[in-house]
Amino acid sequence: MKELKDYIKLHGKVANSSTLKVDSFINHQIDPKLMMAIGEEFKKRFQDKNINKVLTIEASGIAIGLATAFAFNVPLVFAKKKKPSTMNDMYNATVYSFTKKESYNVCVSKEFLNENDKVLVVDDFLAMGNALVGLKEILNEAGAEFVGAGIVIEKGFQEGGKFLRENGIHLESLAIIDSLENNTIKFKD
Ligand code: G4P
Ligand code: NA
Ligand code: NA
Repeated sequence: MKELKDYIKLHGKVANSSTLKVDSFINHQIDPKLMMAIGEEFKKRFQDKNINKVLTIEASGIAIGLATAFAFNVPLVFAKKKKPSTMNDMYNATVYSFTKKESYNVCVSKEFLNENDKVLVVDDFLAMGNALVGLKEILNEAGAEFVGAGIVIEKGFQEGGKFLRENGIHLESLAIIDSLENNTIKFKD
């Protein structure tokens, strides 16, 4: 997605050789026009799939999920990292964060996912793919269909994309980064 890559070139900052900062337009301050364009782009790429729900994970996934759900005119559900005290009946998965070197639990109320759902999963970054695997477990538990995954920024030098594609997941990444070495952002093609 050219508009996104232009944004990344202009506003993205290399934090270190494995981490890209995009907090001025994606995951701290948010650019709403870019977000809505991202939603439209996912709509284009998955439009023939009869999606009836979008699923993401809090916090940074929510803005992307909302833009995408708006484009499809379907509800957005986001997995929570802390179990709300009022939620009893829920699906759970454990996610290991490679970046943070710790595991956390994610949950979705059984009220909002079931075997009739055809779900598009979206997120801001794809690194090792553990968050997506956790969301896939939740969809399996619900008996819902994992139609595909829409990622804003895939870090092509980490294993997640390869792993998910090899496992037959329809993955669409709007920007794929090949390298962040030497303080330089290099995109795939
Ligand atoms: P994985 O799911 O692909 O295995 O990724 P990982 O556990 O490594 O990611 C942990 C967190 O770090 C995620 O956010 C993810 O979006 C974020 N992240 C991964 N790589 C980058 C990067 O290069 N730049 C930035 N800015 N973030 C990255 P999270 O902990 O779920 O937090 P939240 O922001 O959604 O609340
Ligand atoms: Na995220
Ligand atoms: Na994040």
